[in-house]
Amino acid sequence: MNNKNNYAIKIEGLKKTYNLGKNNEFEALKGINLKIPKKSIFGLLGANGAGKSTIINIIAGLVNKTEGKVVVWNNNIDFRQRNAKLAIGVVPQELVLDPFFTPLETLKYQSGYYGVPKNEQCIEEILESIGLKDKANAYARSLSGGMRRRLMIGKAMVHRPPILILDEPTAGVDVELRQTLWSEIKKLNSAGVTIILTTHYLEEAEEMCDSLAIVNKGEIIAEGKTSDMLKKLDRKELIITLEKALPKTFKLKNLNAKLISENQIKITFKPSETNEGVLIEKIYENNLKIKNINSVEPDLEDVFLELTKN
Ligand SMILES: Nc1ncnc2c1ncn2[C@@H]1O[C@H](COP(=O)(O)OP(=O)(O)O)[C@@H](O)[C@H]1O
Ligand SMILES: [Mg+2]
Repeated sequence: MNNKNNYAIKIEGLKKTYNLGKNNEFEALKGINLKIPKKSIFGLLGANGAGKSTIINIIAGLVNKTEGKVVVWNNNIDFRQRNAKLAIGVVPQELVLDPFFTPLETLKYQSGYYGVPKNEQCIEEILESIGLKDKANAYARSLSGGMRRRLMIGKAMVHRPPILILDEPTAGVDVELRQTLWSEIKKLNSAGVTIILTTHYLEEAEEMCDSLAIVNKGEIIAEGKTSDMLKKLDRKELIITLEKALPKTFKLKNLNAKLISENQIKITFKPSETNEGVLIEKIYENNLKIKNINSVEPDLEDVFLELTKN
């Protein structure tokens, strides 16, 4: 296959400057390059304000870029915007549903918007796949939060786009619903849909995405296969509270520990090299008594620190 056809989306040198009025400007994207492989689940991971939604909204044609090239399913958005738009379905972060429309009506109107005629069969299938067949004629306002989100996914899929983009699909969603949404999204992916999602949850990125780009202050600071990225995060912390205070000059034998208060030590270690049990034994070897142990997983901030270090 021709190489350029392997990518669902290609972005080169993408910049966005928002005009804030009164001669104030803000550069939200500082030159983004991205290649998103077809059929992948690709994550844009970053803190709030990093620029994730700006990237998504430019791809979706909802925000005008300042500079750069965006190609969606081989359509440059500057020249073939209509085709580019037809190739994607977007689920925005905020739920936008008319409370007086039923799921069936919502999907029919959305089909009309895309000029997809006579797709009753397809709508039926979508209702089935998002688990809303028995709610087809219920008002949207009577649907639970989870059902509404699924309806939003259905709405994004009525024109059968090869790419589905979800902006923070599980922000503010409870744990159980999060699992359901994840499996729905994975199902669509196994059916051949390329998925792009933004998230600020490390856990979501880990669980869902084959590949990731980490966005920080309008730039991509790391990119690659999720498994490779996580290897770089081979870091964990143990905070250990001791029975007795230690003298400031106390040195622990065979242990790289830091005294963080008079009776607390912090041990930073690589899970690939050692584990909690071994470390605790070493503490006992120092004749110390443990009162409490707290294990700290790396969070997004650690990830950023780790990745921006060199
Ligand atoms: N319409 C806008 N006008 C001005 N600034 C904006 C606008 N939209 C986003 N921004 C700013 O651009 C930056 C990136 O925002 P956004 O793309 O929404 O980030 P994310 O989705 O990663 O949270 C933020 O600092 C935000 O305040
Ligand atoms: Mg956002």
